[in-house]
Order: sequence, then structure tokens, then C-alpha cells
Amino acid sequence: MSKRTPGPLPSIWATGQAKPHRQRSDAYVAGNAHPAKMWPHIATTAIARYSKAGDTILDPMCGVGTSVIEAIQQGRNAYGVDLEPEWVELARANIEAAMAAHPGSWGEVVQGDAADLALLLDGTRLRAPVDMVLTSPPYGAVTHGQPDTSRVTGGKIRNRAHRYSTGKAKPESLATSSASRLQAGLEAVFAGCLLALKPGGFAVVTARPFTEAGALVDFPSFVIRAGLAAGLTLAERRVALLARWDGALHPHVTFFHLHNVREARRQGKKLFARAHEDVLVFRKPS
Ligand SMILES: C[S@@+](CC[C@H](N)C(=O)[O-])C[C@H]1O[C@@H](n2cnc3c(N)ncnc32)[C@H](O)[C@@H]1O
Repeated sequence: MSKRTPGPLPSIWATGQAKPHRQRSDAYVAGNAHPAKMWPHIATTAIARYSKAGDTILDPMCGVGTSVIEAIQQGRNAYGVDLEPEWVELARANIEAAMAAHPGSWGEVVQGDAADLALLLDGTRLRAPVDMVLTSPPYGAVTHGQPDTSRVTGGKIRNRAHRYSTGKAKPESLATSSASRLQAGLEAVFAGCLLALKPGGFAVVTARPFTEAGALVDFPSFVIRAGLAAGLTLAERRVALLARWDGALHPHVTFFHLHNVREARRQGKKLFARAHEDVLVFRKPS
């Protein structure tokens, strides 16, 4: 892990010193189409803080496998699940590359609904309880995505890689759930994590608020309620910066996020560029 400037406070992680794409090592060999990848330095910071070498880490909603890859690179073993076959395929390619570079560690990914974790983990090499869970649940049906400029489209700027699935949305997908179903769905996933975790093990979940139909959804509070309802305890709450810190914050904003912030300001709304996400650190009671 590269040396990074310490955060402004111990509870704030300086995870945005480099732009997210610069945080990705050569282990990320497969496509960039996923709409909401975890920033690698958030994963490395969580892994370093809440696990040790040789531990096993589980990500029940692993996308392209960022948590699994960063775990392998830090001498942990890791296991990922994702509902969408297209992300599982990308994660598998990334994991193979990471394992080739770090032969002492293993990673595995399986496709399925994280609400059925116990069923999915049966038959894999993951037999013992896991030492840590690390995950970032989906937030909202679409994200800002990446722009195709007019040079590419020949016309208007187009949004790309902003959906959780290129096919028809699956009913089990938490990305397209209504707010009430989202909390119940998360609770089911966390209940599976509780069973899979060793007593005293940490479950680290990152979450950002998002806007839906112009209203702010306090997603971190959803996650907390779901974790507590599943039987986890909330051990710590941290902030992971999505901004470079040098005494002041310099957010790394996407093209569309910046556009939305500017547009809102033009209309007199006090909107700020997003500079952090919440890190919710749960624990399985001993
Ligand atoms: C925010 S993304 C995680 C991204 C991941 N951390 C990465 O770096 O690529 C959330 C993921 O949850 C997956 N997902 C949504 N509902 C799911 C479910 N019921 N079971 C398993 N995965 C699910 C989505 O396909 C998506 O890839």
C-alpha cells in the first residue's frame, strides 16, 4: 500500500489523495463498465484496520471485486458474491490476475443473491467462519456514470456505465429496490453475514446518501438500521474522503456530478460537490 497523507482527524480516512482510477493497480485487468466501484484506498484502509494477514474476507455484493483484489494484495484470502453475471465475470478476471501476482493468497467469486449467503457459500472453499466482511451496497437505480463526449457521439454528451445491469433488472436486485424493500433486503444480507462472521469479527460497510426524485435519501441510516436489525452492533462510524486533503478538501468529482452541482447552484440551491462517504463499522457480538 502506498504511503498516504494522514487524515485531518483519526476518524477521517485520507482515501482520496489520488484519483480513483489511479488507485487501481495492474490487477484490474477487466473492463470499467461498473457504475459504482469502491475506491481501492477505502478497501485497503478498512482491510489494514480490521483484519490481519492470512484472514479471510467476504464481500456479499462485490461488483468487479475491488475488496477481493485489495484483500489478496494485502495477503488475505477473500470471497465475493454478486447478483449480476456480467460483474462476476469481470471480478473473476481481476481476481485471477491478482492471484497470479500474489500466489500466497486466494480469491473466489460466485454469482447469486446475497440474501441466500449460506446457500451460496456451501460448496465453496470457504468453510471456516470469515474474519471480516467488507462491502458497499448499491445506492439508487442509476449513478452518475461516465461521459461519452460529443467527439465520440457526434452530438450530445451521453451517459455510459451508469446502470447496475445492462439487461433487465432482476427482482432480487437491491439497486432497484424501493426504500422499504431496500432496508429489508439489506437486513437479509446482513443476517447472512452475521452467520458467516466469526464472533467479534468486523463488518465494514460504506454508504453515501443519494438523491431520488430530487429528495435526499439518508442511505447510511438505512444501512445502520438494517445492520442493527440483523443482530450486528455498530462499533465505529468513520468518514472516507472522496477528496484530496491538503488542509483543504479538493473533491474528485465526475463530469455529471459537477454538472448537477453547477446546475443546482445556478438555480440558487446550496448544493456541494460530494467529498466523502460514510464507513459504518459493525461487529458480531462475541
Ligand atoms: C456499489 S456496487 C459494489 C461495487 C464493488 N464494491 C466494486 O468495487 O466493484 C453494489 C453491487 O451489489 C450488487 N447487488 C445488488 N443486489 C444484489 C443482491 N441481491 N445480491 C448480490 N449482489 C447484489 C450489484 O450488482 C452491484 O454490483
